[in-house]
Amino acid sequence: MLDYDPLHPPNWQDPYPTYARLRDEAPVHYAEQTGTYCVSRYEDVSRVLRDPETFSSVGAFEIMMKARSSSIGPRDVFEIARFLYRSRLNPLRMRKKPPVSIITSDPPQHDALRAIVNRGFTPRQVRSWEPRMREIVDGCMHKLRSGEPFDVVRDLAVPLPVSIIAELLGVGPERHADFKRWSDDIIAGSSGSTRTETLAPFLRAMGELTSYMRDVADERRRKPGDDVVSILVDPQHGDALDAGVLAQFVIVLLVAGNETTTNLIGNGTKALLDHPGELARVLDEPELLPNMIEEALRFDAPVQFVFRRTTRPVELAGTTIPESASVTVLLASANRDERQFEEPDRFDVSRETKGHLGFGLGIHFCLGASLARLEARIAFESLLPELRDLKRSAAEAPFVDSYLVRGLHRLELVPTAEVLREG
Ligand code: HEM
Repeated sequence: MLDYDPLHPPNWQDPYPTYARLRDEAPVHYAEQTGTYCVSRYEDVSRVLRDPETFSSVGAFEIMMKARSSSIGPRDVFEIARFLYRSRLNPLRMRKKPPVSIITSDPPQHDALRAIVNRGFTPRQVRSWEPRMREIVDGCMHKLRSGEPFDVVRDLAVPLPVSIIAELLGVGPERHADFKRWSDDIIAGSSGSTRTETLAPFLRAMGELTSYMRDVADERRRKPGDDVVSILVDPQHGDALDAGVLAQFVIVLLVAGNETTTNLIGNGTKALLDHPGELARVLDEPELLPNMIEEALRFDAPVQFVFRRTTRPVELAGTTIPESASVTVLLASANRDERQFEEPDRFDVSRETKGHLGFGLGIHFCLGASLARLEARIAFESLLPELRDLKRSAAEAPFVDSYLVRGLHRLELVPTAEVLREG
């Protein structure tokens, strides 16, 4: 009998053997502690994601909050009050009409929201950010080229996405460090192991971010620029986002677009270092790079799973899931399903990766996929040639403390013995 719970994963350093057992022994497994049905096979995961009428996103992610803080202390009460004040939210109004977020809405509301935010992420817009990405990456690589100790995560994979998100929202460099702190505190407070201790850092980050973004939105309404916030609040483009919805959207962007891209670059580098033969292939054939990035998303997905809630009783892989039940959709397991991908546990930079679920599927397919792909391509174009002469400094690199997003906390590189001898 399998004892798996997605919010309390038994072997976080390597969850893949557990996913394999789930697919074989209990493809729709009920995790009692959290009260959620875990779907692990590719075919079933795809079916869930393609059917938002049955598998709704409304309230689906609330399970993360329920499993958070078991006891609320005086510090938390103070932070709740400060959060409501900072974000100018009225708890009575929120109860009646909670602020909508793209990731937790269904059609038709989702379609309307998605149409508005798509305006900020057109292919032309994404391409226009390329020169700035190259500049940022060059700045990050300077440290490595000047012989200083270099940590792929700290010195490249973290600063690139956080600077891009902040800049595309029109946020000045003086607030980039705050952006990273808000993102870390929101992720740790919602899915890290300290989530059961106190709500305070999480609420503080949410309150500071919401209040800051409200000010930015007010400013852009008065004086539009060429950033995404200006596009989203501009009524000339049709419907504009109101302040509360904009703040929710920015929270999603920050959390969904920041740590995830960091982890794609970190996990991709780790996979290449773990598979020197595959690294040699990409170095010999640089045209394999875009496919290598897709393979990294398949092989070690930065977002391990997403949640849904059933709107009716439904049968899946022989199990009946009742109405209004929580469903955990294991993207990372589907990506390793041998029923879909041949030898799924092999990292293969030239494999057919079509259909991997690293960015999800269906109506909620990642809005920032092309942005993340471009950031990863530019980062790897600079990093790959350097990897010839580098190795990791310690064999074990710890993973970020989160049950939901998977990525390395640190990945320090040092020159190989040959380079040191030549030097
Ligand atoms: C490697 C990096 C990334 C990964 C692995 C990733 C993964 C995902 C996944 C799995 C979903 C689906 C959620 C669901 O079905 O409930 C999603 C949605 C989303 N992502 Fe990403 N993401 C990445 C980067 C980004 C970036 C850079 C942005 C924006 C700047 C972004 C913004 C969003 C938004 C707004 C949604 C919600 C879309 C909707 O509900 O219609 N993501 N992402």
